[in-house]
Amino acid sequence: MSALTGSGAAAAHVALLLSRLAAPATIFLQSQSFIYVLYIIAFTLMIQGLRGLAGPRTAVRGNRIAAVGMAVAVIATLLQPQEGNWGLIVLGVVIGTAVGIPAARKVRMTAMPQMVALFNGVGGGAVALISWVDYRSHGSSYGTHTIVQSAIVQVQVPGVATYVAIFSVAAAIIGSISFWGSNIAFGKLQEVLPGRPITLGRIQQPVNLLLAALALAAGIALIDGVHSELLFIGMLVAAALLGNLIVLPIGGADMPVVIALLNAFTGVSAAATGMALNNPALIVFGMMVGASGSILTKLMADAMNRSIPAIIAGGFGGGAEVAPSGATAEHGSVRSISAADAAIQLAYASRVVIVPGYGMAVAQAQHAVRELASELEQRGVDVKYAIHPVAGRMPGHMNVLLAEADVPYDQLKEMDEINPELPHTDVCLVIGANDVTNPAAKNTPSSPIYGMPIIEVSEAGSVIVIKRSMNPGFAGIENELYYDPKTSMLFGDAKGAVAEIVAGLAEI
Ligand code: TAP
Repeated sequence: MSALTGSGAAAAHVALLLSRLAAPATIFLQSQSFIYVLYIIAFTLMIQGLRGLAGPRTAVRGNRIAAVGMAVAVIATLLQPQEGNWGLIVLGVVIGTAVGIPAARKVRMTAMPQMVALFNGVGGGAVALISWVDYRSHGSSYGTHTIVQSAIVQVQVPGVATYVAIFSVAAAIIGSISFWGSNIAFGKLQEVLPGRPITLGRIQQPVNLLLAALALAAGIALIDGVHSELLFIGMLVAAALLGNLIVLPIGGADMPVVIALLNAFTGVSAAATGMALNNPALIVFGMMVGASGSILTKLMADAMNRSIPAIIAGGFGGGAEVAPSGATAEHGSVRSISAADAAIQLAYASRVVIVPGYGMAVAQAQHAVRELASELEQRGVDVKYAIHPVAGRMPGHMNVLLAEADVPYDQLKEMDEINPELPHTDVCLVIGANDVTNPAAKNTPSSPIYGMPIIEVSEAGSVIVIKRSMNPGFAGIENELYYDPKTSMLFGDAKGAVAEIVAGLAEI
């Protein structure tokens, strides 16, 4: 009995000791200094992760490092003493994980742009909702000012509430535009909505301007102290309509650029929310997304030789298909060959350049392509890959696919590096690429892609194009290359056609 009493007392002592130790530990974990240290670790990991994303060799590792950085930032934010409702937070994390992980695992590489659009839209929507919640808590103090009094003058300067209000309202407007615009981009890429431009005709621009003016006027009134939740909702609705109307007139071909632009918008709106909520993680991560999204938008627009205002103005690449035209009087005739013929041409070449495009991604032909390259190399053929910056449907699309098939990185050549080598190349094998090889970009000033840099395949000794039909690519225009006497067409699905060439090589 006394032994029991003794062990009970010891347990009570241990519990007391633990509670005494736990109190300072909790204070330490929730101290601003510790939280800031965690944020600095998170920023460092994020920047390191972004550096990794700059090259295919380091991209996967970079992505993982950035994900750890984001996890550290989330933990740091949850440690903030004012964070409440743990039940809702855990529920949110569980739902997000249950939806996000399977979606990311199952998505096909070709559907990645719409996945990015969807996730980006969710970010913008979250920012708009956070601003709304913030307005419900602090909206009554919007428009208050701090009085600064000196011996001589008394001046009114914007106080904390005004500064918070400006960022919160800006975040709500930009976040709402980004959410709705991203949803439309998703719908177009997923073909839930028509890919062609949908416009209001001549009233499009006036309606857009009116909506922008309404959202801004409501925002200014709110910042100035007009306290009305209905006005805040009206501002969100005007921004939502604007987001829809900005993206609907843009054709499917420009959607990846629009997604990068909306991504930048979401980043800026998250940074504005960070300013309003005094959250350094949101400010830094938001600005990183804003800056990288803007740079990516510019790089993609440059690679297509389009200006960003021209893309926003819309009307390009609506996916309207040019009627297939086997042989036309205007262009001459098309020469079709068999896989066995292609195998012979390739087997007796010294230098072959493979030009992959969207069709290789659709057919998931990258492993077959790698096998073909290995077969050719075993026969002493020098094989390289020409990578156009906008081949496929997202930046780095071809690099990712070819890396997945273990193609050595040093065989992947950027457009500017490979073009000078093409005149010394025996055969260019174009696999599911179309627009990025179209000579109209160089030769036809009236072409919508005129000025876009291309892989100049017609400089090679001969060209073999693998595609299923004479249908155009994403820009919706015919390709003069197919009528070039140097060009032979091997019609078929990219994966099957490449496998047939490999089989043909075995017989030579
Ligand atoms: P596209 O010009 O879109 O041509 C792809 C070709 O692949 C089509 O002509 C199609 O012809 C063929 N194809 C489709 N499925 C196939 C399959 N299973 N097997 C064989 N061939 C198949 O592709 P590209 O040359 O890669 O150019 C990319 C386009 O997207 C450019 O216009 C670019 O501006 C635009 N874009 C790209 C990006 C980025 S970041 N990559 C961003 C914005 C816009 P068939 O139907 O006859 O087979």
